[in-house]
Amino acid sequence: MNTFGFIIHPLNIDDVVNSRKIFRIIPKWFLERSLKWSKPFKVCEAHLMPTIDEKIKGYFIGVSLLPRQMLSLNEKLVLNKIILAVRIAEILGAKIVGLGGFTSIVGDKGITIANKSRVPVTSGNTYTAYAVLKAVLDMAKVKGKNLNRSTVAIIGGGGSIGSLCARKLSFYISRIFLTARHREKLEKLKESILKLNPIEVIIEDDNNRAIRDADIVIVTTSSPQAILNINDFKSGAIVCDVSLPKNVRGDINSRKDVTFIEGGLIKIPFDIKYIGLGIGLPKNTIYACMAETLLLCLEKRFEKFSLGDNINIEKLEEIGRLSERYGFEVVYQ
Ligand SMILES: NC(=O)c1ccc[n+]([C@@H]2O[C@H](COP(=O)([O-])OP(=O)(O)OC[C@H]3O[C@@H](n4cnc5c(N)ncnc54)[C@H](OP(=O)(O)O)[C@@H]3O)[C@@H](O)[C@H]2O)c1
Repeated sequence: MNTFGFIIHPLNIDDVVNSRKIFRIIPKWFLERSLKWSKPFKVCEAHLMPTIDEKIKGYFIGVSLLPRQMLSLNEKLVLNKIILAVRIAEILGAKIVGLGGFTSIVGDKGITIANKSRVPVTSGNTYTAYAVLKAVLDMAKVKGKNLNRSTVAIIGGGGSIGSLCARKLSFYISRIFLTARHREKLEKLKESILKLNPIEVIIEDDNNRAIRDADIVIVTTSSPQAILNINDFKSGAIVCDVSLPKNVRGDINSRKDVTFIEGGLIKIPFDIKYIGLGIGLPKNTIYACMAETLLLCLEKRFEKFSLGDNINIEKLEEIGRLSERYGFEVVYQ
């Protein structure tokens, strides 16, 4: 049987509180502080049967740190916990391990973790970027948008998913705004986009200014809290927020004039049965980063597929072909 591992973590303190009855009586501030000393552990198992004669097993290993702790605690301490989590998955039989959420963000985006692990590791960011691009490009078609005349903004453009989306979109569009915390990475990204296609690339320091006139907005930052307000998007815009935790605050139903897509969700064409806690998504729906790990496992490609900031855009086609072959579908919500 082929087996994969997937590293997960709580998105907020309520996820921790709700995970065990006893946690409900502990003050949240104390619970959060004590997470620093927690050890990685097996959260649940997933059983999948893609064909009658094939079975796949997945082990979900939890690293009990919140997104803000992953970014603010000593980097070595955080990386060591993730490396230990990968090791647990390996001991349980995983032949490939996916890094969920902020476990692929901390430090050098999975490279050190992969170098210190015996089993191949992937961030899942190629398939996540593929899913975001497919969703926004299909939605632009449905909404009759002329891509060549549309302005795109990528909030978090300097990151692994953001930069992959920006480079690929440069083949379809003529104007793009990019934001991040640090300008240097964006300058480099601008150079690499201009080598691909001669489009207008605007590096913007202010997220709100970047989205003000954008027809398509991709939000993909590592901010542990919301940084954009639902009221700030242009009327008629298509907005895909793939960030976890979500970066756009407000009630999406209050903006009927804006199309919101919850990016990075994939529907798989066979049943997934969890033993233990599930991941709280609709039936047979999984995160794209987990779907990449599963696809590689189905294909028996036990390799470091996506790592680091600068993922090759050719990998997008590759993972897209694989996902179509296995009948995986991007969810547009
Ligand atoms: N749904 C899914 O399946 C799925 C899968 C993978 C990831 N994700 C989520 O996708 C998001 C991005 O992941 P990633 O791997 O691409 O992260 P990443 O490589 O760390 O990139 C994050 C980018 O966000 C920028 N950023 C951080 N705070 C910002 C702010 N306040 N304003 C503007 N930019 C800001 C960073 O700037 P600097 O470059 O200056 O640091 C960086 O460019 C995360 O929330 C992650 O949890 C979802």
